Amino acid sequence: MTHSIPLKVAVVGCGYWGPNLVRNFQSLPDCRVEQVCDLDPERLRHMRQLYPDLRTTTDFPTILENQEIRAVAIATPVRSHFPLARQCLEQGKHILIEKPMALSVDQCIQLNRLADDRGLTLMVGHTYLYSSVVNRIREIVRSGDLGEIFYIASQRLNLGLFQQDINVAWDLAPHDLSIILHVLGERPVAVNCQGKSHLTPGIQDVSTMWLEFSSGAVVTVHNSWLDPNKVRRITIVGSRKMILYDETQPHEKLKIYDRRVEAPPHYDSFAEFQYAYHYGDTFAPYIQQVEPLMAECGHFIDCVRNGTEPRSNGRQGLEVVKILEAASRSMTADGSRQPLR
Ligand SMILES: NC(=O)c1ccc[n+]([C@@H]2O[C@H](COP(=O)([O-])OP(=O)(O)OC[C@H]3O[C@@H](n4cnc5c(N)ncnc54)[C@H](O)[C@@H]3O)[C@@H](O)[C@H]2O)c1
Repeated sequence: MTHSIPLKVAVVGCGYWGPNLVRNFQSLPDCRVEQVCDLDPERLRHMRQLYPDLRTTTDFPTILENQEIRAVAIATPVRSHFPLARQCLEQGKHILIEKPMALSVDQCIQLNRLADDRGLTLMVGHTYLYSSVVNRIREIVRSGDLGEIFYIASQRLNLGLFQQDINVAWDLAPHDLSIILHVLGERPVAVNCQGKSHLTPGIQDVSTMWLEFSSGAVVTVHNSWLDPNKVRRITIVGSRKMILYDETQPHEKLKIYDRRVEAPPHYDSFAEFQYAYHYGDTFAPYIQQVEPLMAECGHFIDCVRNGTEPRSNGRQGLEVVKILEAASRSMTADGSRQPLR
């Protein structure tokens, strides 16, 4: 629905990701980017080059004091998510916080409570929840077409971008985890995680998680900032069919394989024991592509206007941070199993 008065938003943090938020908010008919904020004047100069009419500031309180700004998108490094988000909520502003929501479970709980108490929208930038491919995968998995989900293997690898305040799991796994929670519709019961730092002491640049679910599904999440190739792959292996989601493919990002292996029900001798390998068709459904971030920004504006609950709400942000926090504990305890409640 288009409203006559555009909703005024501000974007805080105009580094790599913030300009994408500005571009998408600017393109929505019922929203206007009233002001952007960054501590670095050079980034603001860059933003004014892109949008000559854009008002910019290095002074965050200016955003808080501006009564016309009803919503703020926070795209700063993770360490500042909590203090910036809390101040926005205290000033009665709706917020979209980039992933991961905050640096601890405790911070997420505090932000959710504050948003609830004030009746404000708190959305987390789990962008893949707005991808039409991910939502198609969710439909397929939920329909039972794949059979019982045996395992999911997710890989998100890159050369860089190295972060200063968080390790690779906190940087990249929020995408894998938010997709997996969304697709499976259940929370893991335990996590193990191993990681290693090769370049910055104390900041792991490669990590692997192992998650267990009560349904019996297991999930591995492999993340790296040290891979020669950009990899964004999720394989879902079911008892009847299998799925490959390769986000780097320009077309046919999703392939459904009618393949499975069946163990013989019973056998009397070793000679009789044979697995049955089923090789059926491979199908790549046509899926209309819409920029997920555009859908995410539009959804945020709708939620603010209508008071509806975002698809990627603060509870989901909290669930992801719970897993990351437990994964960090596991990493420092030699990969030991950490139960999740
Ligand atoms: N949803 C996605 O797909 C996606 C993709 C990339 C990054 N992100 C997230 O976006 C956030 C920002 O990541 P990035 O890669 O753009 O980082 P970045 O370091 O490139 O940019 C951060 C910017 O924030 C500014 N900044 C820092 N502290 C500030 C403060 N207190 N007030 C105002 N400005 C401040 C910095 O000057 C910098 O320009 C992170 O949370 C990251 O995880 C999300």
